[in-house]
Amino acid sequence: MTDAALTHGMIEMSHKILVTYATFTGATAGVAQAIGQTLAAGGAQVDVLPMDEATDLAPYQAIVAGSAIQGGKWLPEAMEFLQAHRAELSRKPFASFLVCMTMVLTKGEVTEQVQGMMQPVRALVRPVREGYFAGALDLSKIPSFWNRLGFRISIILGIWKEGDYRNWDAIHAWAEELRSQLN
Ligand SMILES: Cc1cc2nc3c(=O)[nH]c(=O)nc-3n(C[C@H](O)[C@H](O)[C@H](O)COP(=O)(O)O)c2cc1C
Repeated sequence: MTDAALTHGMIEMSHKILVTYATFTGATAGVAQAIGQTLAAGGAQVDVLPMDEATDLAPYQAIVAGSAIQGGKWLPEAMEFLQAHRAELSRKPFASFLVCMTMVLTKGEVTEQVQGMMQPVRALVRPVREGYFAGALDLSKIPSFWNRLGFRISIILGIWKEGDYRNWDAIHAWAEELRSQLN
């Protein structure tokens, strides 16, 4: 192995990043994968895991955690993850993101309302960077009849739109800017 390869190997070893996510209908998993890809392209070793599989944070030098939004909040399991790992997350570079339909309504603009959804996260662990991404709405993936009905009414009223509004360019750009902050 050349010196350069050795040095490169050491850099990779010292930059193991976890990207972990909580999802209800799958859209946030795709966002997490895209973030992971961009971070890995920068030379880091990246694991992308659902939150229920992210139990040991010790191997990671930095953590990126994100959740789908329901009722204006991170999913309960995502808040539980933060609470369970609060001390460790506070000692390491930590970035947070959320995926929601409000970002579709604002056409990608990060309003005070959307930033407010991150407040409970911020109160537990201060992120080095916060990501706000438009998600996807697919009624066929929502198991609850009442939730489906609620969304159908909102769609009829023109408040919500069905479809996949994930903006991959915005997600990759955010992750690219995040790289230097996770060192
Ligand atoms: C039951 C339910 C409640 C939701 N509540 C909100 C909400 O309060 N605000 C919002 O912007 N989006 C809301 N959404 C939209 C989701 O955040 C959006 O569809 C997201 O992309 C879902 O991600 P997932 O596929 O990873 O679960 C809700 C979706 C569902 C199914």
